[in-house]
Amino acid sequence: MTVFDIAADFTVTVEEWEALAKRTLTAPAYDYVASGSGAEETLAKNKTAFRQWDIIPQVLIDVSERDLSVQLLNETLAVPVMLAPVGFQTIVHPDGELAAAGGAAELKVPFVASTVSSFSLEEISAEMKGQAPCYFQLYWPADDDVAASLVARAEAAGYAGIVVTVDTPLLGWREKDMHNRYFPIETGAGIANFLNDPTFQQKYNEGGTLTYKQQIPAIKRILLNQKVTWNKLDWLRQRTTLPIVLKGIMHEEDALLALDYGVDGIIVSNHGGRQLDGTGSALEALDVIANKIQGRLPLVVDGGIRRGPDIIKALALGADTVLIGRPYIYGLTEGKQGVKAVLTSLIKDLDTSVAIAGITHVSSIGRSFVRKYSGPY
Ligand code: FNR
Repeated sequence: MTVFDIAADFTVTVEEWEALAKRTLTAPAYDYVASGSGAEETLAKNKTAFRQWDIIPQVLIDVSERDLSVQLLNETLAVPVMLAPVGFQTIVHPDGELAAAGGAAELKVPFVASTVSSFSLEEISAEMKGQAPCYFQLYWPADDDVAASLVARAEAAGYAGIVVTVDTPLLGWREKDMHNRYFPIETGAGIANFLNDPTFQQKYNEGGTLTYKQQIPAIKRILLNQKVTWNKLDWLRQRTTLPIVLKGIMHEEDALLALDYGVDGIIVSNHGGRQLDGTGSALEALDVIANKIQGRLPLVVDGGIRRGPDIIKALALGADTVLIGRPYIYGLTEGKQGVKAVLTSLIKDLDTSVAIAGITHVSSIGRSFVRKYSGPY
């Protein structure tokens, strides 16, 4: 490869993929993916936060060899990008999570499988063929037996960790979805993990006589849990040997509590602006949390990451790696190839940006690479 074909894998921008998704999907499905809660203040802040940090490049460094790999939870990741847990992916493409996980794995990008996937966690991990780690995201069900069963299944299926989403005691105030009267679970998407769960079936479909539609009310009843507290983490620890990562931490005191309670990592996230509207951006929270944690816990961030330089800024502010959500879902409108195209462009953009910033190893990116910019744009 020469320096002139560096963009050979470039397809279109995330914004163009989004426009394609908008044209292709039904309006309620597109709104479900693209929107945030409330007035979408947080959704917007997640993106604008990146403009408030400037990268300070360095020059006259031999950047002919570059290493994009990072370490996370005893794994070496080929690139500092993972696919965030996104539920109900068959509303975007019939191949749903299988296309996304399979596409990610072929590029050695880890995948986080949502509790509310449209394929079972076993089918998803099988699709990755061990080419990249997969993590299971747990919405802690309001039924301990089902929670224990999901976690045991994830461990048996070869998942590398449990990502417990802690920012969703109930769903955010999602005005567009309410306006559209749309929640994907009603279409039968996102319930495969329950239809395939022996404990759920035994408790809520005794005799196996209920149709999938008849099982949806019970799934909705136990899907989220408003009673889980820090003390319950011990219960989970006793049921799995896998690393436990909390997703949805925004407060620095919670980051310190996570450390006290012995979790293995945290994902600084406001759920892509879909839960509590009015919170600050994930990037700003990362800055504060990284200062408190001082390297004592692996930190991951998501929300608003669209281009290579965004990843450099996130790593500079203390993240070990990042997650992307909507960008790959927009790519998913074209199935596995679309997911791969989005990821390939993002990784190439990162590689290009890293080189021009004078960075040879992304794992060495520290705070000196960014400076806060508070002037007008
Ligand atoms: C999500 N997210 C999410 N998070 C989670 O823990 N479990 C889930 O099932 C889902 N489902 C989901 C559906 C859709 C359509 C979206 C857009 C997001 C949140 C997701 O993991 C991640 O935090 C955000 O998407 C990150 O922000 P960006 O990259 O979309 O800006």
